[in-house]
Amino acid sequence: MVFTQKITFGDGKRMRVVFGIIVFSIMVHTMSDNLLARLLDPKEKPVCAAPLAGWTDAPYRPILKMHGTRHVWIPFVSSHSVASRKSVNRDTYVREVIAEHGHVQIFGADPEINAIAAKILEDSGAESIDFNCGCSVRKVHKGGGGSALLKDINMLTENLRAIKESVCIPVSLKTRIGFYSDGDESGIEACRRASDLGYGWVTLHGRTARQKFEGIADLDSIRRLVDELPIPVIGNGDISSPEDALKMFEQTGCAGVMVGRAIMGDPWFIGDTEKFILDGSPRPKRTRNEVVKTILIHQKNLLDHYGDDRRGVWEFRRHVGRYLRGFAQAAVLRNMIVRAEDPLDVTRMLVEFGEGRPPSAISTEA
Ligand SMILES: Cc1cc2nc3c(=O)[nH]c(=O)nc-3n(C[C@H](O)[C@H](O)[C@H](O)COP(=O)(O)O)c2cc1C
Repeated sequence: MVFTQKITFGDGKRMRVVFGIIVFSIMVHTMSDNLLARLLDPKEKPVCAAPLAGWTDAPYRPILKMHGTRHVWIPFVSSHSVASRKSVNRDTYVREVIAEHGHVQIFGADPEINAIAAKILEDSGAESIDFNCGCSVRKVHKGGGGSALLKDINMLTENLRAIKESVCIPVSLKTRIGFYSDGDESGIEACRRASDLGYGWVTLHGRTARQKFEGIADLDSIRRLVDELPIPVIGNGDISSPEDALKMFEQTGCAGVMVGRAIMGDPWFIGDTEKFILDGSPRPKRTRNEVVKTILIHQKNLLDHYGDDRRGVWEFRRHVGRYLRGFAQAAVLRNMIVRAEDPLDVTRMLVEFGEGRPPSAISTEA
């Protein structure tokens, strides 16, 4: 306010606009980037949606938010593609960041490229930059990124440093306990180094990379990390009920928890879990009608985003199976939806299902 008055003289018109943008962007950040503040406040117990490539995409993120999820990541992107001016992936990703100002996640093994990508995403309005050192899928490992970096802690540290030095927004690390299964704690060491470098928080999935999703997440490793680090730790792994989330908080002392597979087809999970942790409320049972209403919004988002040809329809089929789990006659409806070609037929089947009509009636009226 004070400095705008001065700047209206002379060449002031242009400068006032520039300052306006800076002030606006600071306001947007302080209003929306409250995850770090929540992690630092022991009274808050934030429950976050994990980045899930192929699931927490642009059509699903608003559905999660609509049902009470406050912190959701735009799933990982290759730093190479963000840093490359010709990449279609980069354009799509950057567009989403500009639209959402969300938390983003990059992977890659080249410090310089990671630094460039982080800066581009910061300039596009990202709230924070997460560095993925936990993923083992082929496309991530191919270039030495994700959990493959755990095999070279010095290279990993160079990447952590380059990313941190390239941006002003909070940076974080998401990793696993280690790479190999036999007591390897390279992930824990990576978290120590991130903390020393000034990272805002770390997220630890309580498994090694070799374990993939086998066995049970090791809460003891998370607790030891919480005890050791001065920065907040987010605990991740195997949270499939609000009680599991509470157990993660109580047994590890973590500042926040992150939920992955349990939010697939269940956008209510995180809102319900935060409420349970706050006042012990049990999860309400969602009616067919309520679930169908949400599926229909999700269907519209998917078709708007991917188009109503093969991609949009195929993506929708994956999600709808998850939403319908546990309902009587869900398998019959799912099979009918998989065979339906026209999205309008699918909509009609769902509406009828929501109204409690038996699947046989749906198929004969098709
Ligand atoms: C389908 C799928 C996609 C995933 N995509 C990512 C990703 O983009 N970035 C990431 O750091 N982790 C990814 N993960 C790992 C999850 O974020 C999470 O760490 C893991 O699922 C453990 O949490 P959970 O037991 O609650 O599922 C993915 C996991 C799954 C199942």
